[in-house]
Amino acid sequence: MIGLKAADLQRQIIDTLIVPVCEDKEIHEDRIIKRVIKKALQLKEFKAEKDNELTLYDLKDLNTKRIIFVGLGKLNKIDHETLRAFCGAIVKKCIAADFEAIWVTVPAAQKLKMEMPEVVKALMEGACLGNHLFDKYKKEKKKKPLKQINFLVKPEVVGKLRRIAPEVNTVCAGTILAREWISTPSNDKTPEQFTRSIVSKARKYGLKTRVLRERELKQHKFGALLAVAAGSQSKPSMVILEHKPAGTQKTLALVGKGVTFDSGGLNIKTGGSMVGMKADMSGAAVVAATMITLARLKTKSHVIGAIPIVENMPSGKATRPGDIVRSYAGKTIEIGNTDAEGRLILIDAMSYVVKKHKPQVMIDLATLTGACVVALGEKIAGVFTPDDELAEAIIASGNKSHERCWQMPLPEDYKELLKSDFADLNNMASSRWGGAITAALFLSEFSGDTRWAHIDIAGPAYLKKGDAYCGPGGTGFGVRLLCDLIQKL
Ligand code: BES
Ligand code: MN
Ligand code: ZN
Repeated sequence: MIGLKAADLQRQIIDTLIVPVCEDKEIHEDRIIKRVIKKALQLKEFKAEKDNELTLYDLKDLNTKRIIFVGLGKLNKIDHETLRAFCGAIVKKCIAADFEAIWVTVPAAQKLKMEMPEVVKALMEGACLGNHLFDKYKKEKKKKPLKQINFLVKPEVVGKLRRIAPEVNTVCAGTILAREWISTPSNDKTPEQFTRSIVSKARKYGLKTRVLRERELKQHKFGALLAVAAGSQSKPSMVILEHKPAGTQKTLALVGKGVTFDSGGLNIKTGGSMVGMKADMSGAAVVAATMITLARLKTKSHVIGAIPIVENMPSGKATRPGDIVRSYAGKTIEIGNTDAEGRLILIDAMSYVVKKHKPQVMIDLATLTGACVVALGEKIAGVFTPDDELAEAIIASGNKSHERCWQMPLPEDYKELLKSDFADLNNMASSRWGGAITAALFLSEFSGDTRWAHIDIAGPAYLKKGDAYCGPGGTGFGVRLLCDLIQKL
């Protein structure tokens, strides 16, 4: 648990105290802390350069077994992400050292030229997210998350800031839930299992849930979604989650790509490119986790989450290249490539949401294209929308949460590339270039008159190696962004 406390440093018994130190400016207010920092800086091995660390034991100034000083670097380089990363990294080190509880001193916001709530929030996010381990498949759990992380502030501000800790805990629990779903191997999250897991968690937190199973999907002619599911032994589904507080008028819809494994289908992927494909349901995980978080935060917006769930496999029953299928919206699609499956399940979910729920705004998240990773790398998502105002709102929330997004173009004339000789559209563009754009343009054909944005998270959804506040595996990218965005819209 992460908490905010004021303590009398001379009396409180603390095992491990973490003190962030700026290289070129005093950033603390507390007299005792300032004094111990001075002592630390007198030693030549500590200059408070970024990530430079020093541990001192049994200092007489206070009742602390050890103080770990951590350099933040120069003042003009410190931003919210520096604080998140500092806290995440130190929590990871404390886990590695088998500590159980730590205290972290919070620097004075005005000395950092920031606002106090934002400083506390950033530190807590880094700590909370860095304290997560995905070890459920390890027989021996060698490391344990910290039981307690306390942030030390002046007594006067504890009251004013008391709502931050529970909110950060809830939002980070959402990110962690998404991470766990994404990191779970595909043999333990077949479409049936993943559907059940989402529904049981969503019900627990009071969301309205509805599941369209194979029979209903056939009955209501979700032809594009069913075409992707055809090759798998597992049955597809569409999960609809609803958060509806009293007195709301506008409706926002989230749609998340839920391919529990993407083998490519008959256009099978080669070994190297198939390896991370358990994470091809990251959009679904992020949408489901966001919905649960909104319910827990009692957010005052009406939000629908639509989550199409399938597995993309080759078999004697699989959809073939050249097949023509009829989508839920009625448009026919020639399957140029069975590996361009994400757009097929998304358009049926989008059309269904537009028809049934008539949202004012619809946002989809998907690990849609390798081309988007080529364009923007592994840390930045692509935003595609004809609505610049919506793009700006998404990008602003992304900057705030450091879940960074970059707006990409949606040029009308590229739609040419999606033409089919026999059907209304081809799911595979006729040019190999600009794949992230043509995929988004394909989706845009099914957004109707709804304000819509597509976020391609193929890059940032998954980390092969951990970073400051995320381990290897799913990142949960998008949960914090969407929570911020929805509270703003
Ligand atoms: N799930 C993949 C996209 C992907 C690639 C996600 C790498 C994460 C990392 C998607 O279904 C896919 O296979 N896309 C194809 C599209 C192509 C066949 C038009 C791609 O990107 O190559
Ligand atoms: Mn694919
Ligand atoms: Zn895919």
